[in-house]
Amino acid sequence: MRFPATRLRRLRMHPRLRDLVRETDLSPDRLVLPLFVKPGRSVRQEIASMPGQFVYSVDTLIEEAGAAFADGIGAIILFGIPKSKDDRASGAYADDGIVQLALRKLREEVPGVLRLTDVCLCQYTDHGHCGVLEGKKIANDPTLELLSRTAVSHARAGADMVAPSDMMDGRVGVIRRALDETGFTDLPILSYAAKYASAFYGPFRDAADSTPSFGDRRSHQMDARNRREAMREIALDLEEGADVIMIKPALPCLDVIRDTCQRFDIPVAAYQVSGEYALVAAAAERGWIDRRELALESLFAIRRAGASFIITYFAREAARWLSQAPGSAPGKKKAAGT
Ligand code: PBG
Repeated sequence: MRFPATRLRRLRMHPRLRDLVRETDLSPDRLVLPLFVKPGRSVRQEIASMPGQFVYSVDTLIEEAGAAFADGIGAIILFGIPKSKDDRASGAYADDGIVQLALRKLREEVPGVLRLTDVCLCQYTDHGHCGVLEGKKIANDPTLELLSRTAVSHARAGADMVAPSDMMDGRVGVIRRALDETGFTDLPILSYAAKYASAFYGPFRDAADSTPSFGDRRSHQMDARNRREAMREIALDLEEGADVIMIKPALPCLDVIRDTCQRFDIPVAAYQVSGEYALVAAAAERGWIDRRELALESLFAIRRAGASFIITYFAREAARWLSQAPGSAPGKKKAAGT
């Protein structure tokens, strides 16, 4: 039926009716908060390129995780910034490494929060690359051993799920085997399967001090111009034993999220990365866009594409926004562009 019998605006006139017919839901339990931790005490250092986000020490991290939990955020993902770095990334798998210390404390003090860990070497190597070097090349197979040690040491310290983000070939299988051999058969792997080489990671590298001292990450992270290749990455990781697949960055990759959901019957996670946060934060600071509206619209778009859950620096704020009155998100108050 056509106009005038059909008028799509009828269902848009009343905010409660819009709520009834909306196709996409988002609640705080779909959000994971990334947290950075470094050695020290009482550290709460704002990240210059990510205003509103901080690097914590273990004591302040506990407070932040507790506060996030009170806001309705039940899961965090930890990134460590070690005291010292070397060419073997030993801080990544040290029993008293910063992430390991944080995990033990979190398990004791905020036991309700699900603890995810990023498994990569780049924050721990003195050259900032994601693996061990042979000359100027990142050596794939020798790196796998260090990654699996890292994953097992996270598991021992209390990780509930490990998330390898290094993009070495074969790492999911090696990590799965290592976890199984050490008794962690029930510990799931969230694989950053389709992780693109992206300028959107810039602010993260400031925060985590992990910018490579030479070269870039294009020899292992995916080329942003490729879509079908992501399906190969995902299929391989699933064969190797990945339980959940992550796509990253999120908003620039909605097509990949969609494809993945259609092709594979597995939970799909999306990471709204540091640069995505920084763009919103910076434009909002200038008064050019509405922070809340834009953040929520982005998160809804990522959900609409099919992501089961979203790793986002907006997690706490979004939880507060989403728990407000019905119909409050987005579009309650008048904002530019709505
Ligand atoms: C690697 C890692 C990175 C991010 C998550 N895990 C950085 C990179 O690949 O250079 C980026 C996340 C973000 O930008 O928020 N340890």
